[in-house]
Amino acid sequence: MSCTTAVILAAGAGTRMKSDRPKVLHEVCGRPMVSHVISQSKKAGVERIVAVVGHGSQEVKEALADENGVVFALQEQQLGTGHAAMTAAEYIPQEGNVFVLCGDTPLITADTLSRFAAFHEAGGNAVTVLTALFDDPFGYGRIIRRQDGSLEKIVEEKDASEAERAVKEVNAGMYCFQAAFFRENVVRLNNDNAQKEYYITDLISMAVESGAGAGAFTVSDADEIMGVNNRVQLAQAAGIMRGRIARHHMLEGVTILDPENVYIEEDVKIGSDTEIWPGAVLRGRTEIGRRCIIGKDTVIEDSVIGDGCDIMKSVIRSSRIGRETTVGPFAYLRPDSDVGEHCKVGDFVEIKNAKFGDGSKASHLAYIGDADVGSDVNVGCGVVFANYNGVKKFRSTVGDRAFIGSNANLVAPVEIQEDAYVAAGTTVTVTVPEGALCVGRARETVEEGWVERKGLSRKKS
Ligand code: UD1
Ligand code: CA
Repeated sequence: MSCTTAVILAAGAGTRMKSDRPKVLHEVCGRPMVSHVISQSKKAGVERIVAVVGHGSQEVKEALADENGVVFALQEQQLGTGHAAMTAAEYIPQEGNVFVLCGDTPLITADTLSRFAAFHEAGGNAVTVLTALFDDPFGYGRIIRRQDGSLEKIVEEKDASEAERAVKEVNAGMYCFQAAFFRENVVRLNNDNAQKEYYITDLISMAVESGAGAGAFTVSDADEIMGVNNRVQLAQAAGIMRGRIARHHMLEGVTILDPENVYIEEDVKIGSDTEIWPGAVLRGRTEIGRRCIIGKDTVIEDSVIGDGCDIMKSVIRSSRIGRETTVGPFAYLRPDSDVGEHCKVGDFVEIKNAKFGDGSKASHLAYIGDADVGSDVNVGCGVVFANYNGVKKFRSTVGDRAFIGSNANLVAPVEIQEDAYVAAGTTVTVTVPEGALCVGRARETVEEGWVERKGLSRKKS
């Protein structure tokens, strides 16, 4: 298709959000609303995006800095959607077709945009508007048709007569224009209306009157065009998007025990036969393998989890976990934890910036920070890698098959070599050679009959 340019209107203040942040940067499923519109446009074949920015323009530009193919047009004063469109005019090509979309409609899909563009091209009109039927059309521009059903104009809520307000067909705020018509006519818009704003919608009646022609394409799923103007609508849009994402994964073979009670962001990948329990939050560029269990209230961000893992009530950030490893309940993997396969990271274990080799276990209550732990290592209950002296962090090394007894402290930097043992309760500050035992405890003394002598016995006589 030849609709390779899209103008995205994103300069409005979004007053009803009552926010310091520009409206289009408010997030739906972990991404700014405007980013959803951009990514769906690109999927529909758009190569060049003109983002009209104004309110909070610097913030919007920064948020979109990593997007390819986006140029910015600055609308210094927000004088209406038509004025925003004028601002973009210099970036519009001479030929072909151009989309005009809004930054506050995060639910639009690439599929609908593609069909919309194809409809526009087939119709041969100067402009085609996307419409939907709403039970409650309040606040939207109404699509006014003639007796014969052909398009006449769009009337804004505030300018509409009572009869016009009764119309349930609304303007989605998305258009496909012949580029030449757009360039020629956008400059002719005026602000002669109730809001004293320049309305892009007036281009429809201009196309009708001049004989250039205007058409309408009605979406089947009205959700797609929902505009977000306040935080109630923001939550509604997010709910719909979460539903779509969950549905997609379920159709790809993922079991979701309670689809309304999981939060999975758009870019997350999940293998088949994995089971997601209620309250799971899966964010960013997370990839989860097949046959995993992602247990209740688990949070995973930007992490890769191998096949067959069992993760219970844990938090995992920017880390990697090999296959068949169990994590939790109540484990915390902080950034750059690299846990191997067939490992056990049990309850109240925290790992940070550490490698934890295949088959190693830390079953309960341990802190493993800044360390290289080999494979088949046993980290006992209560072991602390003391990596920080109050000023600087240090790294420790533990060789394969080493055994660290309960309640040991490893004062970094320290090295425990392969097959070495550290006795329970030992504080290690020296290198423990391969196969050696390191014990560091004061010898205990036992005083026979001490309780009786001190009169502390609570035995019933
Ligand atoms: C607009 C349409 C309305 C349609 C509705 C769909 C007009 C006159 N009305 O109304 O027919 O039903 O969208 O959601 O077009 N913007 C700018 N610069 C401005 C004003 C707005 O960039 O000066 C941007 C906003 O950031 C927003 C978009 O344009 O992304 C729509 O603006 P908004 O004020 O929300 O328009 P509506 O009143 O909702
Ligand atoms: Ca709006």
